[in-house]
Amino acid sequence: MSNIQSIQAIQVFDSRGSPTISCEIHLNNGSSFISMVPSGASTGSREALELRDGGKDYMGKGVMNAIDNIHNLIAPALIGFDVRDQQSIDEKMIALDGSITKSNFGANAILGVSLAVLGAGAKVSEQPLYKYINNVFHEINSVKLDMQLPVPMLNIINGGEHADNNIDIQEFMIMPVGATSFSQGMQWSVEIYGGLKKLLQQRNLSTGVGDEGGFAPNLQSHEEAIELIIEAIESNNLKPGLDVSLALDCAATEFYENNLYSLKGEALKLTSPEFSKYLESLSSSYPIVSIEDGMDESDYKGWKTLTDALGSKCQLVGDDLFVTNVAELQKGIDESLGNSILIKFNQIGTITETMQTIHLANEHHFSSVISHRSGETEDSIIADLCVGLGTGQIKTGAPCRSDRVAKYNRLLWIEAKNKNLKFAGNVFS
Ligand code: PGA
Ligand code: ZN
Repeated sequence: MSNIQSIQAIQVFDSRGSPTISCEIHLNNGSSFISMVPSGASTGSREALELRDGGKDYMGKGVMNAIDNIHNLIAPALIGFDVRDQQSIDEKMIALDGSITKSNFGANAILGVSLAVLGAGAKVSEQPLYKYINNVFHEINSVKLDMQLPVPMLNIINGGEHADNNIDIQEFMIMPVGATSFSQGMQWSVEIYGGLKKLLQQRNLSTGVGDEGGFAPNLQSHEEAIELIIEAIESNNLKPGLDVSLALDCAATEFYENNLYSLKGEALKLTSPEFSKYLESLSSSYPIVSIEDGMDESDYKGWKTLTDALGSKCQLVGDDLFVTNVAELQKGIDESLGNSILIKFNQIGTITETMQTIHLANEHHFSSVISHRSGETEDSIIADLCVGLGTGQIKTGAPCRSDRVAKYNRLLWIEAKNKNLKFAGNVFS
């Protein structure tokens, strides 16, 4: 008694006030589950297609066509499926859509259903979502993963496409790698965030926040952002690099113009080798353990230069580069581009493909960082995904704004209920 009886989708709003899809799966045993779909701003060009209505309403961002696709094209094909058969359901949707980028139904339509199927499957299996996710991965990839609580990456200064300030690098993150538990890591992070706010106030800098809840002041340079964070760490009697490390997401695709990395805030235009040197210099001056999208999504040569220079001492995460796509990741593995992948399920559109990508990363010793999108909802499913697949790292914004904090709060509950669950801690040691 766990078959899909009906699917209902409605238009709701994400953390930027843009329309997005919420989808409810009803089963013939009376149970149901509701999903919500996130949305990016600094999107990779090879991401699966997010179907928007266009036109005047909602600035063209309505999702009513995608919702119609759920009701008229997806639901009729899925009625009667056992909701626990995640892979068959996802593959059915992929086949019916028939396009490489899920452009017929919209990846947002397909993902809304895929996520609701996952949640409903956990319900009928009477398992917490993260445990059920662990089992689904086992079924899809024939590998049993060790579950663990992740070390969080908290984006406490926002720039790039996520803020209206002059900072080109999109994300300045802290990672409490020296904490002994997830909750201790969160306590440190919250205190550092508070310390940073005080420092900004003392200097008459803005404490307004960007899309991911980090502060978004105008600053002189990237170094100034990093030094403010280091001061905030030290003001809490914590040691930068030992207790708390730093991570960056350059989102370099956004400032790559005419084959140059254009740092407007610093009036610099750099070639790939020069930008690689720039990042090398930052990482040798500061305790930076991870750099995401240090190069443009199609600057493969630049990625190779950066990986050769920094890959042995720093995690180099491909976000726009890999777009959670098995084929793109395989290319990166073959050419030794980066050593880590950012995982965002709406870049690819189904849970099955997301899990296949993580499996490929695991097999080739690429780390997987589970990630939110800059446009989020109160849905906290990525917290369960991260624990269930034991990836060890989650990036879900500052400890501020409920769209970000919902994920950290869910992880705190998972920790509280599972005293024996390992905390990933220093994943770089
Ligand atoms: P996005 O940003 O969701 O706007 O793409 C997050 C990221 O680049 O990691
Ligand atoms: Zn990114």
